[in-house]
Amino acid sequence: MSSLEELNRPPLKLVGGMPIIGPFADNWENVERFQARGDDLLISTYPKSGTTWVSKIVDLILNGGDTEESQKGAIFERVPFLECSGPGVPSGTKILNKQDFPRVIKTHLQVEVLPRSFWDKKCKVIYVARNAKDVAVSYYHFYRMAYGHPEPGTWEEFLNSYMEGNVAFGRWSAHVKGWWRMRQHSEILYLFYEDMLEDPRREVQKVMKFLGKELSDEVVEKIVKHTSFQAMKNNPMANYSTFPCMDHSISPFMRKGILGDWKTHFTVSQNERFDEYYRQEMADTDLTFRM
Ligand code: A3P
Repeated sequence: MSSLEELNRPPLKLVGGMPIIGPFADNWENVERFQARGDDLLISTYPKSGTTWVSKIVDLILNGGDTEESQKGAIFERVPFLECSGPGVPSGTKILNKQDFPRVIKTHLQVEVLPRSFWDKKCKVIYVARNAKDVAVSYYHFYRMAYGHPEPGTWEEFLNSYMEGNVAFGRWSAHVKGWWRMRQHSEILYLFYEDMLEDPRREVQKVMKFLGKELSDEVVEKIVKHTSFQAMKNNPMANYSTFPCMDHSISPFMRKGILGDWKTHFTVSQNERFDEYYRQEMADTDLTFRM
């Protein structure tokens, strides 16, 4: 049986009140007990917010811009996904427990359910947030092609589930607001996908500063070029083409990589409804987005 068939769209399960991919929940005990180290770097995002992009940038910065070194493994191997688990794939916790230090770790967990040891060890965190409407669209297409998720249904049905928080990793608003609040207490670099699109060089330099790395302008230029949408789309080590359980013929992982694709998906009435919902969800925060 192929891993695609084995996964077969299992239902979501709840951990700490947050919906998560079914098989991820089955490994939850190991996630909760995960022991972070002080020199671990955590990359945290709500799904479809630029996780892979920032992971590749971080990988290259830490390697001093050595693209050959960065090509030695797929991005999901170089930056293991903490809570990932499922048939036919070793769990993120298992991979990380065997990995050399210092580690760069990916997570989509809401701030409230992050394993305690990350806070105890005062790990640095890079968080990337993306506007709610483009995330909804990107997530819909990802649900269609990644078989670890339940069937998304129609776009209208998926949008309803997304607004209710009945999707893997829960409500977008709870995620971005939770991590936004946490940045006051921890060493968190809070980035925006829209800023990365606007001026990737500036954002790469922000990450370098946060990591205490100095690189020449030439190396920064090389990193920006190597992590452009087109370069990553064509790079099998970055585009998830070697990852099981995804059908890129339905929708490629590297889909469009733009700001405002929501305009081609939301109907006028969906947009009005979403704007009203958004006003309510974001009324209690000073966090703002460009759509
Ligand atoms: P779209 O589906 O809108 O194209 P994640 O890595 O968090 O799953 O996010 C995936 C989204 O980021 C996809 O968005 C993908 O195309 C986009 N993306 C990945 N690499 C990118 C890059 N280098 N530049 C711009 N967007 C990128």
